[in-house]
Amino acid sequence: MANSPFDLSNESAYRAWRDAKLAAYPRSVDELIVPLADPRHLTPAEIDALESRCVRANMAIYSAPHLPAADKSLPKMLGQQLGLIHLEGNYLADEDGLSSITPAGEEGSVRGEFIPYTHKPINWHTDGYYNTLDRRILGMTLHCAQDAESGGENALLDHEIAYIQLRDTNPDHIAALMQPDAMTIPARMDDDHVARPEQSGPVFAVDPDGGFLYMRYTARTRSIVWKDDAATQAAVRILTDILTGSEYILTARLRPGMGLICNNVLHTRSAFSDSPEHRRLLYRGRYYDRLSFPAHAA
Ligand SMILES: [Fe+2]
Repeated sequence: MANSPFDLSNESAYRAWRDAKLAAYPRSVDELIVPLADPRHLTPAEIDALESRCVRANMAIYSAPHLPAADKSLPKMLGQQLGLIHLEGNYLADEDGLSSITPAGEEGSVRGEFIPYTHKPINWHTDGYYNTLDRRILGMTLHCAQDAESGGENALLDHEIAYIQLRDTNPDHIAALMQPDAMTIPARMDDDHVARPEQSGPVFAVDPDGGFLYMRYTARTRSIVWKDDAATQAAVRILTDILTGSEYILTARLRPGMGLICNNVLHTRSAFSDSPEHRRLLYRGRYYDRLSFPAHAA
């Protein structure tokens, strides 16, 4: 792409884009919130309001607390209006392709082996970081059907901000994390066969057609191997520092009827407590599409 801000040799394009991005970035999570009358049927004004948040931060939080929250058609139809069509159906997803993220209950169930289906915290990551490049997760939605009694907040950081803070520290860190073998997810083995083959890839990549920045990352230290050279190790250390202390991190506590729509930004989940009568339940959608906003008459 000509004049890409993500071109390490184009300092002036980067500076202009960076300065505008930081100036517009929300400094409070409240700036991300857009009340919706009905997420299934957006008005032109609501589309504009969601788009302006996503332009600034690659994410928006909608709020429709007056509707019954435990209804998957809310996030599903909202996503469809914003270009989120191609859902990833992983094998733990429900039949409609949205995953019900809730503590699994019975010990030893398949879901209970995976951290999302527990009460435990989840460290910084983008969704689908272990996917192959042809199955990149570009869009993600999280709809709250029931919140926890305490905890369960999501920290959020636009991956473009992480890129900026890392590049401002040292552009060599970006170069290191754009190496195609920067990060390797080892194969996951079932009892006697490979459930998922080994995946190597960059942390940061620029889409050759769309020109947008894509990030693939997990802060997990198990089940991940970083390239064993000094440049990669240094870059990962600085990125960890940024995710620990960035002033741009926003923290959301989704209440029933609220949800996140995003271009797969960096996020966490804090530990939480709930009870059998009040189970935390979120519907998550992972998409091969990025958000896109339909043009409409003003
Ligand atoms: Fe996630």
